[in-house]
Amino acid sequence: GQDSYILAIETSCDETAVSVVKNGRDVLSNMIFSQIETHKAFGGVVPEVASRKHVESITVMLEEAVEEAGIPLDQLSAIAVTQGPGLVGALLVGIMAAKSLAFALDKPLIGTHHIAGHIYANRLVQELEYPCMALVVSGGHTELVLMEQEGHFHLIGRTRDDAVGEAYDKVARALGFPYPGGPYVDQLAMQSETEVKLPRAWLEPDSYDFSFSGLKSAVLNAVNQSKMRGETPDQSGIALGFQASVMEVLVEKAIRAVRETGAVQLLLCGGVAANQGLRAALTARCKQESIALLVPPLKYCTDNAAMIGAAAHLKWLHGEFVPQTMKAEPGLSL
Ligand code: KG4
Ligand code: ZN
Repeated sequence: GQDSYILAIETSCDETAVSVVKNGRDVLSNMIFSQIETHKAFGGVVPEVASRKHVESITVMLEEAVEEAGIPLDQLSAIAVTQGPGLVGALLVGIMAAKSLAFALDKPLIGTHHIAGHIYANRLVQELEYPCMALVVSGGHTELVLMEQEGHFHLIGRTRDDAVGEAYDKVARALGFPYPGGPYVDQLAMQSETEVKLPRAWLEPDSYDFSFSGLKSAVLNAVNQSKMRGETPDQSGIALGFQASVMEVLVEKAIRAVRETGAVQLLLCGGVAANQGLRAALTARCKQESIALLVPPLKYCTDNAAMIGAAAHLKWLHGEFVPQTMKAEPGLSL
């Protein structure tokens, strides 16, 4: 068939991202403006500030993404945008930009689910085979998603409290690192040889759910107890202990989910998929178990628009477009 060129926009949280993706696979441009420096001072994302920053940078990101892709605007096949979930004010900026472009260029508009984007980021590497199992680990989500077929998402497990990325960020904060702290904890854990023993939350034996708040509290206790004794906390030992606990539960539940559902591929996705410890542990276990594992390159793990282009491509193939009256859906489910 004919080549498709999708311009994709992602503004659900604190990254203003625009990408042009050819045939759902070739990333012609992948522009990301991160607001992390702005939000660091507040220790987390401030929604009002995020919206304002998106407004400031969306036009520049659009221009740069189009220029780098080298595709004339009239040759675009569709405009895609993250519809939800996310911060409503942040989503709105991307949606208004997408609607304006689609209207001005007379192109179809595609609404994409943010987590579907994280999952389909794996399409940028290799085509998915079904049924497959996605382990979604991000700042807002920790889920095991069974996909019997393309576009069908069946949530078989989720966190009952904190998302794993959120737990990373809180632990990093307790250890004195800025937002987002996941990469710092990852680095520290790699440097450590002694592991501070921390609990694992397995929940009921047959459950695919997760829980990280108990572990987070255990870390905070360990840090406070050292401080009360007038000692400096064993930062890297705690980081390693925390990471070991998180990894073991994530990896073993994901492997069991693949085994028990007959999934033919395991997909790792979301910002925490950038974690070196998790990538290594999952790769090793999948090799042992002869499970086909897909892991996106680092730049497609944390929020980006190329993943939205990869997800939107499937909707484009099926002619699944949305009208100009489409709305932001901050609580959109898969
Ligand atoms: O997917 P993402 O960019 O945004 C959401 O949709 O939430 O994920 C961001 C999360 C943050 O919590 C961040 O700390 C975490 O991903 N993260 C990491 C690493 N890189 C990013 N967590 C652990 N290790 C990393 N290397
Ligand atoms: Zn995300």
